[in-house]
Amino acid sequence: QGDCGGRECDLLKTEIRDLQEQLKALKATVGKIQKAWIFMNGNSAGEKTFQANGSEGDFETSKATCSQAGGLLASPRNSAENTAIQQIVVRHNKAAYVGINDIETEGSFKYLSGEAIGYSNWAGGEPNNLGTEDCVEIYPDGRWNDRSCNEKRLIICEF
Ligand code: IPD
Ligand code: CA
Repeated sequence: QGDCGGRECDLLKTEIRDLQEQLKALKATVGKIQKAWIFMNGNSAGEKTFQANGSEGDFETSKATCSQAGGLLASPRNSAENTAIQQIVVRHNKAAYVGINDIETEGSFKYLSGEAIGYSNWAGGEPNNLGTEDCVEIYPDGRWNDRSCNEKRLIICEF
């Protein structure tokens, strides 16, 4: 590891210090904006933030809306995330699709990534595939129901 010295090296050191200060200020600003954004109408769990703008759609529309916004249809992977999503459902008094389905293989529920789900919060008697139900909605009580992908539901995205 070669030590640097001289005028050029001093300039670089100054520039690095300057960048470090700017980065610190930027992080503080982003943190404030994030908090204000969540305070307005979102929610958070761990690193994820969840947001709804009041729009509704079927499963495909919900998925597309979130991905166009640079996010993902809310996909609860643990109870903290599920509770954060549930609170938005309660706020809007409207069930929402989550990013989970068994479209590919009946009874095998997967995230949008194709990975098998590692957490679930099914309501009693669900999933029952009544008729054909390949998508999953989350109720105001936080429980899940497999449901036709063609209903209109609150769109909740994660970022
Ligand atoms: C049904 C019931 C049922 C559930 C189905 C729903 P619907 O509602 O809530 O418990 O398992 O997914 O479709 O169709 O009778 O209004
Ligand atoms: Ca069902």
